[in-house]
Amino acid sequence: MCIEFEKQTTAFAELIDLYLHQYTENINQPVLREAMEYSLFAGGKRIRPLLLISASGDNLAASLPFACAIECIHTYSLIHDDLPCMDNDDFRRGKPSSHKKFGEAVALLAGDALLNLAYEIMGQALCKARQADVVNLKNAMLAIASAAGAEGMVGGQTDDIMFTEGDKVPDESEIVSMYARKTGALIVASIVAGAYIGKIPMRDGKIERAAKMLGEAFQIKDDILDVTSTTETLGKPVGSDAKNNKNTFVSILGIEAAQKRFETLSFESTLLIRETYGQSSLLHLAEKMMNRNH
Ligand code: IPE
Ligand code: IPE
Ligand code: MG
Ligand code: MG
Ligand code: MG
Repeated sequence: MCIEFEKQTTAFAELIDLYLHQYTENINQPVLREAMEYSLFAGGKRIRPLLLISASGDNLAASLPFACAIECIHTYSLIHDDLPCMDNDDFRRGKPSSHKKFGEAVALLAGDALLNLAYEIMGQALCKARQADVVNLKNAMLAIASAAGAEGMVGGQTDDIMFTEGDKVPDESEIVSMYARKTGALIVASIVAGAYIGKIPMRDGKIERAAKMLGEAFQIKDDILDVTSTTETLGKPVGSDAKNNKNTFVSILGIEAAQKRFETLSFESTLLIRETYGQSSLLHLAEKMMNRNH
């Protein structure tokens, strides 16, 4: 991996943290602020905001607010995902989960506040935008909003719960559809919103196709790591899926088939990213995501 890319990624991640701090530092409710910052700065990989920035062609000034917004939404989704009524996991990002540290009510509210903060940040960016950028920024915000909601992450998380609690064992196509929404949607939105912000043409649909494959591959890798990694490396409990009787690609098809599908998707998606963005930070980032071990 090229050193320049690594340096740039570190610099971008620092900027994301700086901006996020600016958005939370004036929150007046001290417990809520502490809980929001606890999860936001616990050491997430920042994949979605980095995808958004790089998909914009590294247009930092325009993309940073949206990058922070998507990280707020992602972090809220993790706080809620860990709650006892969902996956009941006690560790996240190497630390006790939000509800373990602050109790369920505050964890729930910290998630709610992060979700709302995301829309406030994007709304502020729209209010400040130059007229020539407004349509693109509106499209970016809409892409993020629909990916976060009932047709995206929240809908997919509902599938996940239904396939766990209900009698129905999902077939392969239902797992694909669940992954596309619970995880893929925010990854696709990061890339598509970035492309809108950077005014990158998307008419041929290649960028979106690449993003969809990347999103599915990302969740398959998450499921594989849940079986093969350690809690120390992941910063979250391994074996969570088996504990909760989750239906995943790994449980339905077996680890080898899951690994094969992951490899095909990551190969094809990076190929498409190379075709559309060339040797870019988006390509390096996609490769890094696919090679990750946590
Ligand atoms: C974890 O996402 C949840 C999934 C959708 C698989 P990440 O692996 O990006 O988690 P962080 O942000 O680095 O903690
Ligand atoms: C995706 O699935 C979670 C979200 C969409 C929030 P998981 O439940 O597998 O994510 P982890 O493994 O807890 O991070
Ligand atoms: Mg879950
Ligand atoms: Mg989980
Ligand atoms: Mg998981």
